[in-house]
Amino acid sequence: MSNVLVVDFGAQYAQLIARRVREANIFSEIVHHNISASEVQKKNPAAIILSGGPSSVYEAGSPQLDPAILELGIPVLGICYGFQVLAQTLGGKVDQTGKREYGATELKLTDGGVLLGNQPQLQICWMSHGDQVVQAPSGFTVLASTETTPVAAFENLEKRIFGVQWHPEVKHSEQGQQVLRNFLYKGAGIEPTWNSGNVIAEQVEKIRQQVGDARVICGLSGGVDSAVAAALVHRAVGDQLTAVFVDHGLLRKFEREQVERDYVAATGIRLVTVDAQEKFLSALSGVSDPETKRKIIGREFIRTFEEAERKLVAEAKADNRPIKFLVQGTLYPDVVESGGGVTAGIKSHHNVGGLPDDLDFELVEPLRTLFKDEVRAIGKELGLPAEIVQRQPFPGPGLGIRIVGEVTKERLDLLRDADAIVREELTKAGQDSQIWQCPVVLLADVRSVGVQGDGRTYGHPIVLRPVSSEDAMTADWSRLPYELLAKISNRITNEVAGVNRVVLDITSKPPGTIEWE
Ligand code: XMP
Repeated sequence: MSNVLVVDFGAQYAQLIARRVREANIFSEIVHHNISASEVQKKNPAAIILSGGPSSVYEAGSPQLDPAILELGIPVLGICYGFQVLAQTLGGKVDQTGKREYGATELKLTDGGVLLGNQPQLQICWMSHGDQVVQAPSGFTVLASTETTPVAAFENLEKRIFGVQWHPEVKHSEQGQQVLRNFLYKGAGIEPTWNSGNVIAEQVEKIRQQVGDARVICGLSGGVDSAVAAALVHRAVGDQLTAVFVDHGLLRKFEREQVERDYVAATGIRLVTVDAQEKFLSALSGVSDPETKRKIIGREFIRTFEEAERKLVAEAKADNRPIKFLVQGTLYPDVVESGGGVTAGIKSHHNVGGLPDDLDFELVEPLRTLFKDEVRAIGKELGLPAEIVQRQPFPGPGLGIRIVGEVTKERLDLLRDADAIVREELTKAGQDSQIWQCPVVLLADVRSVGVQGDGRTYGHPIVLRPVSSEDAMTADWSRLPYELLAKISNRITNEVAGVNRVVLDITSKPPGTIEWE
């Protein structure tokens, strides 16, 4: 299978470039800029893309490229900083002219060539640079310029080396994806053959080789990653896999049914559900502090999972086929962010409600090379229920951190009803693709006066926290239509006893976090 190496020069653009290459149906892999020519050769890529980066090629210690890489005859595309590295290494001229370009910039094609062929003469592209390439290396054709940048793109068809000053991977660059396609398909001559179907086939084969005839277990959380990882392993080794689902009582309405009924029907997976609702409730009794709740939930989760695991291990030993493997839904961004080779170090905050890391199993991680949107596509291809595949992020500690105050069964039931109404109305209004997630929070320690029917009430407020985000690191509050908000508010106050007020959280992150606890 063809592979494109994306050389990371230190900005966040490398992941975006890798995703865009895959959107063009070609596999891609991110590598550090200190990779040597011989390491590149070993990987035998069909093309190389040099990413942008925050440095200036003039700075002492700025990231360099092993120049021998450009002698390997592998097609190369340099982007932004990568473009300047190419210009400098191949004998062109890069200057600090003091003329910076940031944001949307008009680009004028002077030639077009293969890279910009069939594109409009004038187009908007996204720039972010201080230095300029003022002279292309000899043998290179200049393809485009802007008002301040004389050499905004170049190519050398004989050497199959190309470069652009702007960021084609960014959606604001009008012809961005087309530039990448031109490079990949025409410049490098790669066939677009990578798709969900062959990822599944490849992973299934790999899992079979790794696991042999041993047994495997996995924890299902109801979330996308564990659901898809388990479904892939199940496709590979069938009933050698047992999935464990812990119902801690902090789940959303129908979530357990979704896993037990719909997910099992779609996959045929062997599932063990552990009903631990009572145990979690009594451990949380009297506790209001958010971090203490998190710790208790995390601890109970691990204990419960380990108990289930011990039982399964004993059963498996009895029939002489020990459990040797544990499935984890680690994704590619975790792998890249933790430095590549090793297993992802998941942020401790996000590990709450996850599995302990000292379990005595070898890991099976079939999603290690994939981005989230690819995992969803694979889940869909595997026939998993849309409610699971399209699910928005939901914290491991569940509704336990969406009740401000003590967690009780009554409060959980109330919040579950309100949350179900919000989800139903958001979906009906077609908002699911616009919002990142919408925590629904019960302020159990707050009461306010209301009037319902003929009487005065003294009930609790529900907070709606719909946000838009790219990665949950920053977020903005979603501007939902008033009619939709009115409908949600009416329904909650009418249908959920004990709630007499619905409020909207209009805080961005920062300063507010997405969750209230
Ligand atoms: P915050 O509230 O920090 O949330 O803005 C960022 C993202 O993380 C999720 N979140 C959690 N996920 N365990 C999890 O697995 C947790 O304890 C936890 N706390 C927050 C939150 O839903 C959002 O997507």
